[in-house]
Amino acid sequence: MPAIRPGATGAVISGWGTALPEKVISNDELAATMDTSDEWIRTRTGIHERRVGGSTAGLSVESGRQALEMAGLTPDRIDVLVLATTTPDKQWGTASLVQHELGLSCGAIEVNAACSGFMYGLVQAHGMIAMGADRALVIGTDTLSRITDWDDRGTAPLFADGSGAVVLEAVDGPGQLLAWDLDADGSLLPILWADVGGTIKMEGKEVFRRAVRLMVDSAEKAMTQAGITADDVSLVVPHQANIRIIQAACDRLGIPIERAATVLHRTGNTSSASIPLALADALDAGRVQHGDLVLLVGFGGGMTAGSCVLRWGGGVE
Ligand code: ACO
Repeated sequence: MPAIRPGATGAVISGWGTALPEKVISNDELAATMDTSDEWIRTRTGIHERRVGGSTAGLSVESGRQALEMAGLTPDRIDVLVLATTTPDKQWGTASLVQHELGLSCGAIEVNAACSGFMYGLVQAHGMIAMGADRALVIGTDTLSRITDWDDRGTAPLFADGSGAVVLEAVDGPGQLLAWDLDADGSLLPILWADVGGTIKMEGKEVFRRAVRLMVDSAEKAMTQAGITADDVSLVVPHQANIRIIQAACDRLGIPIERAATVLHRTGNTSSASIPLALADALDAGRVQHGDLVLLVGFGGGMTAGSCVLRWGGGVE
């Protein structure tokens, strides 16, 4: 796993934003259309309700605008836009549309690593800052409701729509990113996939098993690289797929579940948006203080995985 080169320009998160569609679908509403129940969905997944609607570009503009406002930046100050999504609105140009609608005057790319997308995008943006960009806007957005089979009780209760964004700004001295890990195992594509124009197909039990392993493995690699242990982590922000996956991963990592950020009870699995949504929720609740160590860890179709260890606010110990 690559280490960050000494002296590389670092960055800190200076603003964040979120967007969720207005339409809420409760478990009971789902149970009215298929053979399931609120009790089954809650106990097997931790999800109580989910939000659906909107477009990937529209949600991205909303969360991106909030992040810019919080960072106190005018759009011309952003040097690059990275949009993590596995559900672009069109074959190409979703990031460009977001760039245009936000009034940015910089390059704009889409990153697709399924539910690990935000981790890949965040690492990529840190890399661009190390190569000279001063500020990056990183947005994770998915509209999975558009590729969900709403007649399949094995997947329909899980997936939903949303967006989360962060502004990254270059700093003098050490930045927030202490270490990162990105993984992929293409042999596992057949257990979780969606054909172009198709819907999400999944072998749930096998995905569950692999997801826990992938998350633990990736998080451990990033923590080792950062020279920290699970005891040092103040907050873990895991991909929001299933509370039992989060619980199992936390148990294996030795991190108490109370230190995990969770929003999936009200958002469902929003793929690329899930980590920034959970991070923003924890930040808004005042759960992170300057100097705290934050572990972000995701997994997704492909299968992919990714982790970042951040020292909140950057700087030395
Ligand atoms: N309501 C009621 N019963 C259901 C439902 C439902 N919605 N779905 C399945 N069942 C039934 C099954 O048919 C099965 O019945 P049977 O025993 O008569 O055969 C029973 O419940 C148990 O099914 P399992 O699949 O064994 O249930 P499990 O406890 O594994 O939970 C779940 C299923 C929630 C899908 C779980 O396996 C899971 O979360 N897997 C990971 C999924 C995931 O995270 N995917 C996203 C990856 S991220 C990305 O990149 C998109």
